[in-house]
Amino acid sequence: MWFRKGLVLGLFALAQIVLAGEDYYKVLGLRKDATERQIKSAYRQLSKKFHPDKNPGDSSAHDKFVQVAEAYEALSDTESRSLYDQIGYDAFKQRKAQGGNGGPGHHDPFDLFSRFFGGGGHFGNQPGQRRGPNLELKVGIALRDFYNGKTTEFQWDKQQICEECEGTGAADKVVHKCHSCNGQGIKLVRQQIAPGMVTQMQMQCDVCGGRGKTIKHKCKACNGERVARKPTPVSVTIQRGMADGVKIAFENEADESPDWVAGDLYVTLVEKEPKLDEDNPDKVDGVFFRRKGDDLYWKEVLSVREAWMGDWTRNLTHLDGHVVHLGRKRGEVVQPGHVDTIAGEGMPIWDEDGDSVYHKTKFGNLYVEYNVILPDQMESGMEKELWQIFQKYRAKNGVDLHKDSGRPEKVVLKEDQDAAEREHEEL
Ligand SMILES: *[C@@H]1O[C@H](CO)[C@@H](O)[C@H](O)[C@H]1NC(C)=O
Ligand SMILES: [Zn+2]
Ligand SMILES: [Zn+2]
Repeated sequence: MWFRKGLVLGLFALAQIVLAGEDYYKVLGLRKDATERQIKSAYRQLSKKFHPDKNPGDSSAHDKFVQVAEAYEALSDTESRSLYDQIGYDAFKQRKAQGGNGGPGHHDPFDLFSRFFGGGGHFGNQPGQRRGPNLELKVGIALRDFYNGKTTEFQWDKQQICEECEGTGAADKVVHKCHSCNGQGIKLVRQQIAPGMVTQMQMQCDVCGGRGKTIKHKCKACNGERVARKPTPVSVTIQRGMADGVKIAFENEADESPDWVAGDLYVTLVEKEPKLDEDNPDKVDGVFFRRKGDDLYWKEVLSVREAWMGDWTRNLTHLDGHVVHLGRKRGEVVQPGHVDTIAGEGMPIWDEDGDSVYHKTKFGNLYVEYNVILPDQMESGMEKELWQIFQKYRAKNGVDLHKDSGRPEKVVLKEDQDAAEREHEEL
Protein backbone atom coordinates (compact mmCIF):
# COMPACT_ATOMS: atom_id res chain seq x y z
CA MET A 1 0.00 0.00 0.00
CA TRP A 2 2.69 2.45 1.09
CA PHE A 3 4.92 1.31 -1.68
CA ARG A 4 2.28 2.05 -4.25
CA LYS A 5 1.68 5.47 -2.84
CA GLY A 6 5.40 6.17 -3.09
CA LEU A 7 5.42 5.01 -6.67
CA VAL A 8 2.54 7.25 -7.61
CA LEU A 9 4.25 10.20 -5.96
CA GLY A 10 7.45 9.37 -7.78
CA LEU A 11 5.72 9.33 -11.12
CA PHE A 12 3.99 12.55 -10.35
CA ALA A 13 7.30 14.25 -9.53
CA LEU A 14 8.78 12.94 -12.75
CA ALA A 15 5.86 14.26 -14.78
CA GLN A 16 6.41 17.67 -13.24
CA ILE A 17 10.06 17.74 -14.22
CA VAL A 18 9.20 16.89 -17.80
CA LEU A 19 6.47 19.49 -17.86
CA ALA A 20 8.79 22.11 -16.43
CA GLY A 21 10.96 21.71 -19.50
CA GLU A 22 8.03 22.51 -21.64
CA ASP A 23 7.22 25.90 -20.36
CA TYR A 24 9.65 28.78 -20.58
CA TYR A 25 8.10 30.56 -17.65
CA LYS A 26 8.61 27.55 -15.44
CA VAL A 27 12.18 27.15 -16.65
CA LEU A 28 12.84 30.65 -15.36
CA GLY A 29 10.75 30.06 -12.25
CA LEU A 30 8.37 32.87 -13.17
CA ARG A 31 4.68 33.48 -13.49
CA LYS A 32 3.08 34.32 -16.81
CA ASP A 33 2.68 37.96 -15.86
CA ALA A 34 6.38 38.39 -15.06
CA THR A 35 7.87 41.79 -15.87
CA GLU A 36 10.76 42.30 -18.22
CA ARG A 37 12.96 42.98 -15.26
CA GLN A 38 11.99 39.75 -13.53
CA ILE A 39 12.79 37.83 -16.70
CA LYS A 40 16.23 39.43 -16.86
CA SER A 41 16.91 38.87 -13.22
CA ALA A 42 15.84 35.22 -13.42
CA TYR A 43 18.13 34.70 -16.38
CA ARG A 44 21.07 36.31 -14.59
CA GLN A 45 20.66 34.08 -11.57
CA LEU A 46 19.92 30.79 -13.27
CA SER A 47 22.50 31.09 -16.02
CA LYS A 48 25.21 31.65 -13.40
CA LYS A 49 23.95 28.74 -11.36
CA PHE A 50 23.87 26.24 -14.21
CA HIS A 51 26.87 27.48 -16.17
CA PRO A 52 28.93 24.47 -17.27
CA ASP A 53 32.11 26.11 -15.93
CA LYS A 54 30.58 25.90 -12.48
CA ASN A 55 29.25 22.38 -12.91
CA PRO A 56 32.03 20.51 -14.64
CA GLY A 57 30.96 17.12 -15.93
CA ASP A 58 27.32 17.65 -14.98
CA SER A 59 25.37 17.23 -18.19
CA SER A 60 22.02 18.02 -16.58
CA ALA A 61 23.37 21.43 -15.52
CA HIS A 62 24.55 21.97 -19.08
CA ASP A 63 21.07 21.15 -20.39
CA LYS A 64 19.55 23.52 -17.88
CA PHE A 65 21.95 26.25 -18.96
CA VAL A 66 20.88 25.81 -22.58
CA GLN A 67 17.21 25.74 -21.58
CA VAL A 68 17.48 28.89 -19.51
CA ALA A 69 19.09 30.73 -22.43
CA GLU A 70 16.39 29.47 -24.78
CA ALA A 71 13.65 30.56 -22.39
CA TYR A 72 15.21 33.97 -22.00
CA GLU A 73 15.50 34.46 -25.75
CA ALA A 74 11.87 33.49 -26.23
CA LEU A 75 10.52 35.73 -23.47
CA SER A 76 12.82 38.76 -23.56
CA ASP A 77 11.62 39.91 -26.96
CA THR A 78 8.11 41.37 -26.86
CA GLU A 79 7.03 39.97 -30.21
CA SER A 80 8.45 36.57 -29.55
CA ARG A 81 6.89 36.49 -26.11
CA SER A 82 3.41 37.28 -27.29
CA LEU A 83 3.72 34.66 -29.99
CA TYR A 84 4.82 32.14 -27.41
CA ASP A 85 1.93 33.11 -25.15
CA GLN A 86 -0.48 32.52 -28.05
CA ILE A 87 0.71 29.29 -29.56
CA GLY A 88 2.51 27.58 -26.68
CA TYR A 89 5.74 25.67 -26.41
CA ASP A 90 5.44 22.96 -29.05
CA ALA A 91 4.25 25.15 -31.89
CA PHE A 92 6.75 27.84 -30.90
CA LYS A 93 9.63 25.37 -31.01
CA GLN A 94 8.49 24.11 -34.36
CA ARG A 95 8.36 27.55 -35.88
CA LYS A 96 11.80 28.37 -34.58
CA ALA A 97 13.17 25.16 -36.02
CA GLN A 98 11.76 26.20 -39.38
CA GLY A 99 13.46 29.55 -39.04
CA GLY A 100 10.07 31.18 -38.84
CA ASN A 101 8.76 34.13 -36.94
CA GLY A 102 10.48 33.47 -33.65
CA GLY A 103 12.09 36.85 -33.11
CA PRO A 104 15.80 37.46 -33.25
CA GLY A 105 17.69 34.34 -32.33
CA HIS A 106 21.17 34.02 -30.93
CA HIS A 107 21.28 30.27 -30.69
CA ASP A 108 24.56 30.09 -28.82
CA PRO A 109 23.81 30.20 -25.08
CA PHE A 110 27.40 31.22 -24.28
CA ASP A 111 27.04 34.21 -26.57
CA LEU A 112 23.95 35.26 -24.68
CA PHE A 113 25.76 34.75 -21.39
CA SER A 114 28.61 37.00 -22.51
CA ARG A 115 26.14 39.77 -23.26
CA PHE A 116 25.33 39.77 -19.55
CA PHE A 117 28.62 38.97 -17.92
CA GLY A 118 31.26 39.65 -20.58
CA GLY A 119 34.35 37.51 -20.90
CA GLY A 120 33.36 35.49 -23.94
CA GLY A 121 30.67 33.56 -22.11
CA HIS A 122 32.89 31.87 -19.55
CA PHE A 123 33.76 32.31 -15.90
CA GLY A 124 37.29 33.58 -15.42
CA ASN A 125 38.93 30.17 -15.06
CA GLN A 126 39.90 29.95 -18.72
CA PRO A 127 43.60 30.53 -19.32
CA GLY A 128 44.33 34.10 -20.33
CA GLN A 129 40.85 35.25 -19.44
CA ARG A 130 40.63 38.63 -17.81
CA ARG A 131 38.51 39.36 -14.82
CA GLY A 132 37.04 42.76 -14.09
CA PRO A 133 37.62 44.50 -10.78
CA ASN A 134 35.57 43.59 -7.74
CA LEU A 135 33.55 46.41 -6.29
CA GLU A 136 32.44 47.28 -2.77
CA LEU A 137 29.39 49.33 -1.90
CA LYS A 138 28.17 50.44 1.50
CA VAL A 139 24.49 50.66 2.23
CA GLY A 140 22.97 52.24 5.35
CA ILE A 141 20.40 50.00 7.02
CA ALA A 142 18.12 50.94 9.91
CA LEU A 143 18.46 49.01 13.16
CA ARG A 144 14.86 47.87 12.90
CA ASP A 145 15.65 46.17 9.58
CA PHE A 146 18.54 44.30 11.20
CA TYR A 147 16.08 43.23 13.90
CA ASN A 148 13.10 42.29 11.77
CA GLY A 149 14.84 41.31 8.56
CA LYS A 150 13.89 42.88 5.24
CA THR A 151 14.44 42.71 1.54
CA THR A 152 15.30 46.10 0.18
CA GLU A 153 16.54 47.56 -3.04
CA PHE A 154 19.03 50.24 -3.91
CA GLN A 155 20.54 51.53 -7.13
CA TRP A 156 24.07 52.14 -8.26
CA ASP A 157 25.64 53.33 -11.50
CA LYS A 158 26.86 50.14 -13.03
CA GLN A 159 28.82 49.82 -16.24
CA GLN A 160 26.73 47.57 -18.42
CA ILE A 161 27.35 45.95 -21.76
CA CYS A 162 25.34 48.07 -24.18
CA GLU A 163 22.07 46.32 -24.92
CA GLU A 164 21.49 48.24 -28.09
CA CYS A 165 24.55 46.87 -29.88
CA GLU A 166 25.01 43.83 -27.66
CA GLY A 167 28.49 44.94 -26.74
CA THR A 168 29.78 45.25 -30.29
CA GLY A 169 29.80 49.03 -30.40
CA ALA A 170 28.30 48.84 -33.90
CA ALA A 171 24.88 50.15 -34.82
CA ASP A 172 24.31 47.06 -36.99
CA LYS A 173 25.93 44.77 -34.40
CA VAL A 174 28.40 43.65 -37.05
CA VAL A 175 32.08 43.54 -36.22
CA HIS A 176 34.65 43.29 -38.99
CA LYS A 177 38.13 41.98 -38.86
CA CYS A 178 40.54 44.88 -39.05
CA HIS A 179 42.19 44.76 -42.45
CA SER A 180 45.04 46.95 -41.50
CA CYS A 181 46.39 44.39 -39.00
CA ASN A 182 44.52 41.34 -40.24
CA GLY A 183 42.77 41.03 -36.91
CA GLN A 184 46.02 40.77 -34.94
CA GLY A 185 45.80 44.13 -33.24
CA ILE A 186 49.52 44.63 -33.89
CA LYS A 187 51.51 45.54 -36.96
CA LEU A 188 55.11 44.97 -37.91
CA VAL A 189 56.64 48.25 -38.93
CA ARG A 190 59.93 48.42 -40.83
CA GLN A 191 62.12 51.25 -39.85
CA GLN A 192 65.36 52.37 -41.33
CA ILE A 193 67.63 53.26 -38.46
CA ALA A 194 70.71 53.90 -40.54
CA PRO A 195 71.45 53.72 -44.27
CA GLY A 196 71.20 50.08 -45.15
CA MET A 197 70.03 49.05 -41.68
CA VAL A 198 66.39 48.20 -41.24
CA THR A 199 64.68 46.97 -38.12
CA GLN A 200 61.20 45.58 -37.57
CA MET A 201 59.13 46.79 -34.69
CA GLN A 202 55.82 45.58 -33.30
CA MET A 203 53.34 48.37 -32.88
CA GLN A 204 49.77 48.53 -31.81
CA CYS A 205 47.49 48.83 -34.82
CA ASP A 206 46.44 52.45 -35.18
CA VAL A 207 43.30 51.63 -37.16
CA CYS A 208 41.58 49.38 -34.61
CA GLY A 209 43.42 50.54 -31.51
CA GLY A 210 44.85 47.06 -30.93
CA ARG A 211 41.54 45.24 -30.80
CA GLY A 212 41.84 43.60 -34.20
CA LYS A 213 38.27 44.52 -34.97
CA THR A 214 36.56 47.46 -36.57
CA ILE A 215 33.00 48.61 -36.95
CA LYS A 216 31.36 50.59 -39.72
CA HIS A 217 28.79 52.62 -37.82
CA LYS A 218 29.04 53.51 -34.18
CA CYS A 219 26.17 52.47 -31.97
CA LYS A 220 24.28 55.61 -31.00
CA ALA A 221 23.37 54.39 -27.54
CA CYS A 222 26.94 53.88 -26.31
CA ASN A 223 28.76 55.98 -28.92
CA GLY A 224 30.75 52.93 -29.93
CA GLU A 225 32.07 52.42 -26.39
CA ARG A 226 30.28 49.03 -26.14
CA VAL A 227 29.40 49.80 -22.53
CA ALA A 228 27.36 52.43 -20.71
CA ARG A 229 26.74 53.35 -17.08
CA LYS A 230 23.18 52.96 -15.96
CA PRO A 231 21.41 53.08 -12.61
CA THR A 232 21.09 49.42 -11.75
CA PRO A 233 18.94 48.00 -8.98
CA VAL A 234 20.35 45.54 -6.49
CA SER A 235 18.08 43.66 -4.16
CA VAL A 236 19.57 42.77 -0.78
CA THR A 237 18.00 40.58 1.83
CA ILE A 238 18.87 41.54 5.37
CA GLN A 239 18.47 38.47 7.53
CA ARG A 240 17.40 38.87 11.14
CA GLY A 241 20.35 39.60 13.37
CA MET A 242 22.95 40.05 10.65
CA ALA A 243 26.01 41.81 12.00
CA ASP A 244 26.57 45.51 11.50
CA GLY A 245 29.14 45.61 8.69
CA VAL A 246 28.21 42.24 7.18
CA LYS A 247 29.42 41.83 3.61
CA ILE A 248 27.14 40.21 1.07
CA ALA A 249 28.68 38.88 -2.14
CA PHE A 250 26.96 39.12 -5.52
CA GLU A 251 28.94 36.95 -7.87
CA ASN A 252 29.85 38.55 -11.20
CA GLU A 253 27.60 41.54 -10.58
CA ALA A 254 30.30 44.27 -10.64
CA ASP A 255 31.00 46.39 -13.74
CA GLU A 256 30.55 44.58 -17.04
CA SER A 257 32.67 44.76 -20.16
CA PRO A 258 33.01 42.65 -23.28
CA ASP A 259 36.74 42.52 -22.45
CA TRP A 260 36.43 40.72 -19.16
CA VAL A 261 34.33 38.52 -16.92
CA ALA A 262 32.50 40.78 -14.53
CA GLY A 263 34.04 40.80 -11.04
CA ASP A 264 32.06 40.37 -7.84
CA LEU A 265 29.99 43.02 -6.16
CA TYR A 266 30.21 43.21 -2.36
CA VAL A 267 27.52 45.04 -0.48
CA THR A 268 28.36 46.02 3.10
CA LEU A 269 25.41 46.68 5.35
CA VAL A 270 26.12 49.34 7.96
CA GLU A 271 23.74 50.51 10.62
CA LYS A 272 22.65 54.08 10.04
CA GLU A 273 21.61 56.72 12.51
CA PRO A 274 17.87 56.62 13.01
CA LYS A 275 15.84 59.52 11.66
CA LEU A 276 12.78 60.39 13.66
CA ASP A 277 10.17 60.41 10.91
CA GLU A 278 11.63 58.47 8.03
CA ASP A 279 12.85 55.42 9.86
CA ASN A 280 10.22 55.22 12.52
CA PRO A 281 6.79 55.14 10.96
CA ASP A 282 5.49 52.91 13.75
CA LYS A 283 6.91 55.18 16.45
CA VAL A 284 8.68 52.40 18.26
CA ASP A 285 11.06 53.25 21.11
CA GLY A 286 13.34 50.45 19.97
CA VAL A 287 14.58 52.54 17.05
CA PHE A 288 16.71 54.36 19.60
CA PHE A 289 18.25 51.26 21.11
CA ARG A 290 21.97 51.04 20.71
CA ARG A 291 23.35 47.77 19.48
CA LYS A 292 26.53 45.99 20.50
CA GLY A 293 26.79 42.60 18.81
CA ASP A 294 23.77 40.58 19.86
CA ASP A 295 22.83 42.90 22.73
CA LEU A 296 20.82 46.08 22.92
CA TYR A 297 21.17 49.05 25.27
CA TRP A 298 18.62 51.53 26.52
CA LYS A 299 18.72 54.41 28.99
CA GLU A 300 15.65 54.98 31.12
CA VAL A 301 14.97 58.03 33.26
CA LEU A 302 13.37 57.79 36.70
CA SER A 303 12.21 60.51 39.05
CA VAL A 304 13.49 60.60 42.62
CA ARG A 305 10.20 59.30 43.87
CA GLU A 306 10.24 56.38 41.46
CA ALA A 307 13.87 55.51 42.11
CA TRP A 308 13.39 55.66 45.83
CA MET A 309 9.84 54.61 46.56
CA GLY A 310 9.22 52.21 43.68
CA ASP A 311 5.70 51.69 42.28
CA TRP A 312 6.29 52.65 38.67
CA THR A 313 6.01 51.09 35.21
CA ARG A 314 7.43 51.81 31.78
CA ASN A 315 6.37 50.23 28.51
CA LEU A 316 9.05 50.12 25.84
CA THR A 317 7.85 49.44 22.33
CA HIS A 318 10.44 47.15 20.83
CA LEU A 319 11.60 47.17 17.20
CA ASP A 320 8.87 44.82 16.02
CA GLY A 321 6.19 46.56 18.05
CA HIS A 322 5.99 44.16 21.01
CA VAL A 323 6.08 45.75 24.42
CA VAL A 324 8.75 45.27 27.08
CA HIS A 325 7.49 46.04 30.56
CA LEU A 326 9.82 47.67 33.04
CA GLY A 327 8.89 48.55 36.60
CA ARG A 328 9.32 48.18 40.36
CA LYS A 329 6.89 47.46 43.12
CA ARG A 330 6.44 49.86 46.00
CA GLY A 331 9.49 49.83 48.23
CA GLU A 332 11.91 48.64 45.57
CA VAL A 333 14.78 51.08 45.20
CA VAL A 334 16.71 51.69 41.99
CA GLN A 335 20.13 53.26 42.43
CA PRO A 336 21.26 55.76 39.77
CA GLY A 337 23.35 53.96 37.17
CA HIS A 338 21.85 50.59 37.99
CA VAL A 339 21.54 48.27 34.98
CA ASP A 340 18.74 45.77 34.50
CA THR A 341 19.56 42.78 32.32
CA ILE A 342 16.52 41.63 30.39
CA ALA A 343 17.28 38.28 28.83
CA GLY A 344 15.87 37.55 25.40
CA GLU A 345 15.07 41.17 24.50
CA GLY A 346 18.30 41.86 22.61
CA MET A 347 18.98 41.31 18.92
CA PRO A 348 18.03 38.08 17.20
CA ILE A 349 21.17 35.94 17.06
CA TRP A 350 21.84 35.37 13.39
CA ASP A 351 21.60 31.81 12.17
CA GLU A 352 21.58 30.60 8.61
CA ASP A 353 18.38 28.65 9.31
CA GLY A 354 16.61 31.78 10.49
CA ASP A 355 13.34 31.22 12.28
CA SER A 356 11.44 28.18 11.07
CA VAL A 357 9.69 25.08 12.31
CA TYR A 358 13.10 23.47 12.60
CA HIS A 359 14.92 26.32 14.19
CA LYS A 360 13.92 28.86 16.75
CA THR A 361 15.73 32.18 16.80
CA LYS A 362 17.55 33.01 20.01
CA PHE A 363 17.99 36.54 21.26
CA GLY A 364 20.68 38.49 23.08
CA ASN A 365 20.10 40.66 26.14
CA LEU A 366 18.63 44.08 26.60
CA TYR A 367 20.49 46.23 29.13
CA VAL A 368 18.49 49.05 30.67
CA GLU A 369 20.52 51.64 32.54
CA TYR A 370 18.66 53.91 34.97
CA ASN A 371 19.26 57.57 35.30
CA VAL A 372 17.68 59.38 38.23
CA ILE A 373 16.71 62.98 37.71
CA LEU A 374 16.43 65.36 40.65
CA PRO A 375 14.00 68.23 40.21
CA ASP A 376 15.42 71.77 39.96
CA GLN A 377 12.22 73.28 41.16
CA MET A 378 9.34 72.21 43.33
CA GLU A 379 6.00 73.65 44.20
CA SER A 380 6.61 75.63 47.35
CA GLY A 381 4.03 73.61 49.30
CA MET A 382 5.71 70.41 48.34
CA GLU A 383 9.13 71.77 49.18
CA LYS A 384 7.94 72.76 52.67
CA GLU A 385 6.40 69.41 53.39
CA LEU A 386 9.43 67.51 52.20
CA TRP A 387 11.70 69.83 54.20
CA GLN A 388 9.75 69.15 57.33
CA ILE A 389 9.85 65.42 56.81
CA PHE A 390 13.57 65.47 56.26
CA GLN A 391 14.11 67.75 59.28
CA LYS A 392 12.13 65.35 61.37
CA TYR A 393 14.28 62.38 60.46
CA ARG A 394 17.52 64.26 60.00
CA ALA A 395 18.62 64.01 63.61
CA LYS A 396 17.17 60.59 64.20
CA ASN A 397 18.04 57.45 62.42
CA GLY A 398 19.70 58.72 59.25
CA VAL A 399 22.68 56.92 57.90
CA ASP A 400 25.96 58.32 59.20
CA LEU A 401 27.55 58.97 55.83
CA HIS A 402 30.77 60.10 57.43
CA LYS A 403 31.20 56.94 59.44
CA ASP A 404 30.17 54.83 56.47
CA SER A 405 32.78 56.35 54.23
CA GLY A 406 35.71 55.08 56.32
CA ARG A 407 37.41 58.48 56.31
CA PRO A 408 39.43 59.60 59.39
CA GLU A 409 37.62 61.28 62.26
CA LYS A 410 39.74 64.37 62.23
CA VAL A 411 41.95 65.53 59.45
CA VAL A 412 45.38 66.63 60.63
CA LEU A 413 47.55 68.16 57.98
CA LYS A 414 51.23 67.33 58.02
CA GLU A 415 52.28 70.99 58.17
CA ASP A 416 50.09 71.60 61.19
CA GLN A 417 51.59 68.57 62.86
CA ASP A 418 55.14 69.81 62.23
CA ALA A 419 54.24 73.23 63.52
CA ALA A 420 52.78 71.71 66.67
CA GLU A 421 55.94 69.70 67.25
CA ARG A 422 58.15 72.75 66.81
CA GLU A 423 56.05 74.68 69.25
CA HIS A 424 56.49 71.82 71.68
CA GLU A 425 60.31 71.99 71.38
CA GLU A 426 60.36 75.70 71.96
CA LEU A 427 58.52 75.29 75.22
C1 LIG B 1 2.18 49.62 30.84
O1 LIG B 1 1.29 48.58 30.53
C2 LIG B 1 0.63 48.07 31.64
C3 LIG B 1 -0.17 46.85 31.21
O2 LIG B 1 -0.48 46.89 29.89
C4 LIG B 1 -0.26 49.14 32.25
O3 LIG B 1 -0.91 48.64 33.39
C5 LIG B 1 0.62 50.30 32.64
O4 LIG B 1 -0.14 51.37 33.11
C6 LIG B 1 1.46 50.78 31.47
N1 LIG B 1 2.40 51.78 31.93
C7 LIG B 1 2.58 52.94 31.35
C8 LIG B 1 3.59 53.87 31.94
O5 LIG B 1 1.96 53.27 30.35
ZN1 LIG C 1 43.89 46.72 -36.67
ZN1 LIG D 1 25.98 50.30 -28.05
